Amino acid sequence: MKIIKVESYDQLSKTAAEMVIEKVRREPKTVLGLATGGTPVGLYKELVKDHQNGGTSYKEVSSFNLDEYVGLSGDDPNSYRYFMDEHLFNHVDISKENTHVPLGNTEDHQQHCQDYENLLKERGGVDLQILGIGPNGHIGFNEPGTSFQSETQVVELMDSTREANARFFNSIDEVPTHAISMGIATIMRSKEIILMVSGETKREALAQLLNGEVNENFPASILKNHPNVTVIADKDAVGE
Ligand code: F6R
Repeated sequence: MKIIKVESYDQLSKTAAEMVIEKVRREPKTVLGLATGGTPVGLYKELVKDHQNGGTSYKEVSSFNLDEYVGLSGDDPNSYRYFMDEHLFNHVDISKENTHVPLGNTEDHQQHCQDYENLLKERGGVDLQILGIGPNGHIGFNEPGTSFQSETQVVELMDSTREANARFFNSIDEVPTHAISMGIATIMRSKEIILMVSGETKREALAQLLNGEVNENFPASILKNHPNVTVIADKDAVGE
């Protein structure tokens, strides 16, 4: 893993954006793997700004998001489809039909998971995957204990994850209990990965990632076995 330490969240967002922009300009048909949550908001702002001022085009880019809450439809403001539209897709020239976010409200979640995994494989897999990390080491919504062999599946969210994400909802009772998430094996098939780590609440997770061993109880640890991972961490996450 390559580690880039930066001063601030702003720098973290700009550094990740530069890497994405460079990739899209070099390979216009890039398949991006995208994350939601608080961490990538600044990255998406930078991509939008660059699209508007620098002209980087996403016309031929396609994207696959990591996860979606079970039970939420794409027009629910708390859904990850809505998040992606609001923060990125509505503001760049990507075709909506090339953007993929798991559907949280299908009749048959298992079937949908398989279809999502198959579609991603058909499209040649993710070229560049953006990841955040949970305080418990989750990547996607793969909570501690998830098999490293897992593919896209329905997962149960830990109470601590629901508590951490309650900040986006009116109350914790509204946070869904389950999600659809790309699996660890799915994520590991990405050709290149950027892991963004920001803030004091991620300090322990970052230390565990850098110093701990590869273990299913700390899902992000598997990234150490990937040949092309860049971890970008801000000062608050790195600590003294
Ligand atoms: C989001 C995702 C999660 C988040 C993680 C950190 O699509 O897959 O793994 O990256 O929960 O969330 P934030 O950035 O809100 O701290």
